[in-house]
Amino acid sequence: MHEHDVIVVGAGGAGLRAAIAAEEEGADVALVSKLHPVRSHTGAAEGGINAALREGDSWEDHAYDTMKGSDYLGDAPAVETLCQQSPDEVIKLEHWGMAFSRDDDGRMSQRPFGGLSFPRTTYAGAETGHHLLHTMYQQVVKRGITVYDEWYVTQLAVTDEDDPESRRCYGCVAYDIQSGDLDGFVASEGVVLATGGPGQVYDHTTNAVANTGDGPAMAYRAGVPLEDMEFIQFHPTTLPSTGVLITEGVRGEGGILYNSEGERFMFERGYANNAGELASRDVVSRAELTEINNGRGMEDDYVHLDMRHLGEERISDRLENIIHLATDFEGVNPLEKPMPVKPGQHYAMGGIEVDENGETAVSGLYAAGECACVSVHGSNRLGGNALPELIIFGARAGWHAAGREMQPAGIETGPAASMGSEDLDTPVEPGAIAPRTESGDIAADGGTRADGDARADGGTGAQVMGAAETVEHAVETERERITAMLEKEGGVKQATIRSRLQKAMTRNVNVFRTEDGLNQALRDIREAREAYADVSVADPSRTFNTDLIHTIETRNLLDLAEAITLGALARTEFRGAHWREAHQERKDDEWIKHTMLAWNDGEPELYYKPVVLEGENKTYEPKERSY
Ligand code: FUM
Repeated sequence: MHEHDVIVVGAGGAGLRAAIAAEEEGADVALVSKLHPVRSHTGAAEGGINAALREGDSWEDHAYDTMKGSDYLGDAPAVETLCQQSPDEVIKLEHWGMAFSRDDDGRMSQRPFGGLSFPRTTYAGAETGHHLLHTMYQQVVKRGITVYDEWYVTQLAVTDEDDPESRRCYGCVAYDIQSGDLDGFVASEGVVLATGGPGQVYDHTTNAVANTGDGPAMAYRAGVPLEDMEFIQFHPTTLPSTGVLITEGVRGEGGILYNSEGERFMFERGYANNAGELASRDVVSRAELTEINNGRGMEDDYVHLDMRHLGEERISDRLENIIHLATDFEGVNPLEKPMPVKPGQHYAMGGIEVDENGETAVSGLYAAGECACVSVHGSNRLGGNALPELIIFGARAGWHAAGREMQPAGIETGPAASMGSEDLDTPVEPGAIAPRTESGDIAADGGTRADGDARADGGTGAQVMGAAETVEHAVETERERITAMLEKEGGVKQATIRSRLQKAMTRNVNVFRTEDGLNQALRDIREAREAYADVSVADPSRTFNTDLIHTIETRNLLDLAEAITLGALARTEFRGAHWREAHQERKDDEWIKHTMLAWNDGEPELYYKPVVLEGENKTYEPKERSY
């Protein structure tokens, strides 16, 4: 058993920043990650980090752009915190030695990005995330923070009171990928989840294979609600054969999108008469797919992104990484030819419900970064707003978990937070979503609480276990579950289930969504879940057993795919990244509310909570959104 004050799960941008912040607060911190920190998916972030650093720009303009980009589903207090604190956090990165690109006068370079009214995306070539990750990892090493890398956290150690808000997280269980041992981690102050997004729910994604939504799935099953899961971002420029990201920075620097008729369709077909290629991502992705679906794509699959006119010198200076990515992964040298691109899953706007200090409904459990929903992105994230979210809310979660008194957070969390608002807390009408089948419930710990029945008294509530006992109990429960999977003979392989799930999501829960398609996806997910009840691991070895890891992850993908699809089915409007064929308007009277999903012992329960449009000095009145 390992004991620390604060355990941070995941060592990408949010996890590293949370760990540094907790250490700044004097805590004994440990980072536990299934990857080595510098292999985290933050390293794939290319284009930049938004911060109002220059004269002529302001945090207020950044906040306005973000609220508009969110299609008025972001919470204004959190958005304002993001925009106010981003400049200081970016300057801190600079002081820590991050190698930002520079203008001739020595200032950090900034470039235009989609949906921004000012070129405020600060960058380091086209590998901003890579530099950010390395800069923060150096701080972690310098501060002597303990890192358990290649330890996969598979379970939270949470008490089991009936009311999730009375539960307490005392730590977690992790699988040592090198030795195959399972061990407990006790956190005397708090556990911070920073595990990234669930991109592997889809088969065409910019996300790494490791992005399996482990944090949201574990928190959800432990009783923490998920928020706004239906809002998935599809990035307009991914390479068709692999999903590898071609940064929005290409368009920020002047790259142009063409259809097969040689038209600059963003303007010529009227999709975004002012911003063109630099409209918000949801707008550009829909435009590309409309072109492709109307027969104006190349090979019925993609459009062209051309940057040749920018010239080799500028491309090499600001976008060199793109030359390598397009050449290596698509066989196209973008200095010589336009790049084939199409929309691909990129980001989850929703996640674990948290307040501005990273607190969840379960005490002692925090979350930050893409796995969390604070909510600053609402129904559509602006490019360049993910990295500031990681460092700002990662830091706040780390400080708070380590015991710093924080300003009261703007937003309350947990199901109770929605109760004050009439008709927002009502579950979706019966029949609006298909009931979950009994065999479809994959709680593999006996079918009830997935995250550990931690009551010492067998459920009477007389005596609740302490920290060490709770963690030990969770380790034992998890050991039994994993041993059963390893020893099972026959059965279904996770690869079959995962691929079925990914195809179902890509086919029917994509940029364009229909009622029939979403219902079909739900049936497919539940069939995949039934198959998972019979899953087995082909590789019996203990060391670097990736088949076992993928099997554990696949359960998380199933739960999150269901959450995304349930939210999407219930939201009968068109807002941001969520387009519905039969509901072509944004319905502000009915739908300015966050979708909440409670695990509810494996019977997901939808309810809603209000969006906060009131900022510090102004209210962000919803307006028509055009670019
Ligand atoms: O296009 C990009 O470089 C991605 C940036 C982001 O998602 O913020």
